[in-house]
Amino acid sequence: MTVRIAPSILSADLAHLMDEVERVLAGGADQIHVDVMDGHFVPNLTWGAPVVAALRRFTEAPLDCHLMVEHPEAYIAPFADAGATILTIHAEATPHLERHLAEIRRHGMHPGVALNPATPLAAVEEVVDEIDLLLVMTVNPGFGGQAFWEPAIDKVRRARSLLAERESRAWLEVDGGVARETIPRLSAAGADTFVAGNAIFTVSDAAAEVRELRRLAEAGAGGRTVKS
Ligand code: DX5
Ligand code: ZN
Repeated sequence: MTVRIAPSILSADLAHLMDEVERVLAGGADQIHVDVMDGHFVPNLTWGAPVVAALRRFTEAPLDCHLMVEHPEAYIAPFADAGATILTIHAEATPHLERHLAEIRRHGMHPGVALNPATPLAAVEEVVDEIDLLLVMTVNPGFGGQAFWEPAIDKVRRARSLLAERESRAWLEVDGGVARETIPRLSAAGADTFVAGNAIFTVSDAAAEVRELRRLAEAGAGGRTVKS
């Protein structure tokens, strides 16, 4: 199993954004997680495509963009133009998930679907074959540094079974409260892609933390029962 570590810049020192990104890439981060919030879908506001374009001018690293917005379809072309690699939209944000996933792929990005804690896996079942990433939220989205939602462990296990049953190669990403204590358990449950904000950017050596989280995720994957 391949472990991917995706530091979330939500917790980075934004006045030195590119330095922060370079620090985590030096630690072997696989992709940079960009949290886009519109103040409607979630009660917080961050940034949009211009920040992705700015990052893209300085790095070739995959940009893993997580849209926590209403009307996600309005952002597909701007994020493609900005250089996003993965574009993940929330199942709760649109009645036209299938159409927008197809549109994301047509724009040359990898389509992903995110599910809030209270949203059942059934919300993604019909489009499993059309996604490259399934994001199981392990907190309610909107803020960094929140407490991990424990029932997510079982949900991740069921999500891994669903992907295995459908022979999907989609990445199974988790986001929220991912840290040293939770990452081995998430990995054992079947997650392979780990977003972490606070755990990485609030310690003095972010690069070392990326390495440590990867080590713990790889150790956790050893105890997995459903293989990816
Ligand atoms: C939460 C965001 C996350 C957030 C995670 O709404 O989607 O990506 O940055 O933050 P931590 O790792 O601090 O829980
Ligand atoms: Zn996120």
